[in-house]
Amino acid sequence: MKELLEKFEDYLQSNLPSSNTFHPHFEKALGDMLQAGGKRFRPMLLLSVVKSNKSLLIDNSMPVALGLEMLHTYSLVHDDLPSMDDADLRRGFQTLHKKYNEVTAILVGDALNTEAFKQISNAPLHNDIKIELIKTLSCDGGINGMIIGQAIDCQFENQKLELAQLEFLHIHKTAKLIAASLKMGAIISEYDLETQEKLYNFGIDLGLLFQIQDDIIDETLSEEEAGKTTQNDEAKNSFVNLLGLDGAIKAADDLALKCENIMQTLDTNLKNSLEELLLKYINRHK
Ligand code: IPE
Ligand code: IPE
Ligand code: MG
Ligand code: MG
Ligand code: MG
Repeated sequence: MKELLEKFEDYLQSNLPSSNTFHPHFEKALGDMLQAGGKRFRPMLLLSVVKSNKSLLIDNSMPVALGLEMLHTYSLVHDDLPSMDDADLRRGFQTLHKKYNEVTAILVGDALNTEAFKQISNAPLHNDIKIELIKTLSCDGGINGMIIGQAIDCQFENQKLELAQLEFLHIHKTAKLIAASLKMGAIISEYDLETQEKLYNFGIDLGLLFQIQDDIIDETLSEEEAGKTTQNDEAKNSFVNLLGLDGAIKAADDLALKCENIMQTLDTNLKNSLEELLLKYINRHK
């Protein structure tokens, strides 16, 4: 896992989005949040699936993993904007709208979004595979995925949702991109459709767990510990607000158990390749 992560970090450092103009800070701003770090959970999921079946394709998959991380990073840059969650700190650094200005943050987000698809389309992989990857990322990261989740998240501030609506919100805003990460790895690895679907459905549970844990982090960690603005969910339909802290921890425990059980049913190669990464995140709220 460490080796794969280091490989990804090296690839990212040498492939930061760039342009070379007379703008005083835009080029620097483009790379700031990618370089700031983060857990790289989504690219690591993708690469671990590739490793399980097509380890020779790991290098060729790097642009796809980077594209995925770019799309996720764009979602964070926009999520922090004053009109969304209004946050000052991200990945241990000042958010882009604070460090530069709002227009820079908006446009860096836009750039990372389009750059993500450029990365994937230029990857040294078969064209049919790249079309499937682009379809998946644009669906799960797009209108019927992360975007509608974010829209509902912001629209219903200070308005309590029903439990089913709450799940819809969090599945869309967070779980679908995590599910897509596993599925994209499966597409590159040419796993059959049944395995792709199994991994995707598993990713929805895993992603929902990830968001419950994130809501617990917002409640319980300082901004220094989290590296991002916390105690920021007061108006949100977070799991902590709906279920209370103990209820959210209980929901995370239940889902963690479910995820661990599903993980045990994965084919040996997949399980071996994913286990270390999965266990680290499945148990991170404990
Ligand atoms: C934060 O994602 C936003 C959510 C969907 C919960 P991460 O917790 O993966 O953020 P980074 O990538 O590590 O910064
Ligand atoms: C954001 O969820 C999910 C995204 C699609 C970016 P949050 O608003 O809870 O993420 P954090 O806590 O700011 O990282
Ligand atoms: Mg948000
Ligand atoms: Mg936020
Ligand atoms: Mg949060």
